[in-house]
Amino acid sequence: MSILSLDFAEPFFHIDFVEQEESCHIAEKSMIINLAEYEQENILLEGDRVILPLKAAVVQDMTLRNLVRAFILKDFESCDLQNPETVEAIQRSWKTLYEMSGLPRHKGLPYYKSPKFCIGSGNRHMELNLCFVSEGMVPSGPHRDHDRDFDEVHAQILGYGMMRVYEYEDNEHIHQELNMAPGIVHDKMYDSEGKYPWHEYKSVTPCVYCPIELDRH
Ligand SMILES: [Fe+2]
Repeated sequence: MSILSLDFAEPFFHIDFVEQEESCHIAEKSMIINLAEYEQENILLEGDRVILPLKAAVVQDMTLRNLVRAFILKDFESCDLQNPETVEAIQRSWKTLYEMSGLPRHKGLPYYKSPKFCIGSGNRHMELNLCFVSEGMVPSGPHRDHDRDFDEVHAQILGYGMMRVYEYEDNEHIHQELNMAPGIVHDKMYDSEGKYPWHEYKSVTPCVYCPIELDRH
């Protein structure tokens, strides 16, 4: 049973990491991301509603129950992406996607990543960070493989974005667009063996999203 205040996205986002808490009252408007994996690990809201595993919700003045593992992004809307000073501060503090990955396809992209936060170690450990995209309508580049073997989903925090799924690498034959507004985590794209279709994140507006990576080994 613990509530840990995290600093990996400070001073822009104030995130609590909650584990094995029977109940937790949320006073100010906050985003809850259920980081549990299994069906029986729903977070219970008032009025018989639930937050399913690897899904999120925006709540205010509500008591939550059965928090097995969750992020609480407190007063997340206080990070104002319309404020040029905030935007410049994030760009100064976080590394670009290209600096993080070194991949040629990421060069020049207006994507900025916070440091990572890791949960657990070894099999099924989880890695999370936040990613800021300073411009709308910028794709991140189709890919099918990652630097490690993990299951990934993305939670939209601020602004709008989408996960695009392609039939081929040419990013013209779109199979699916999974649109995301704040509080939406797109459905899983990987199969039971961890194989992915070609896919990419694309900003619609300037935005912040949270990649969630669950190690498969
Ligand atoms: Fe990916």
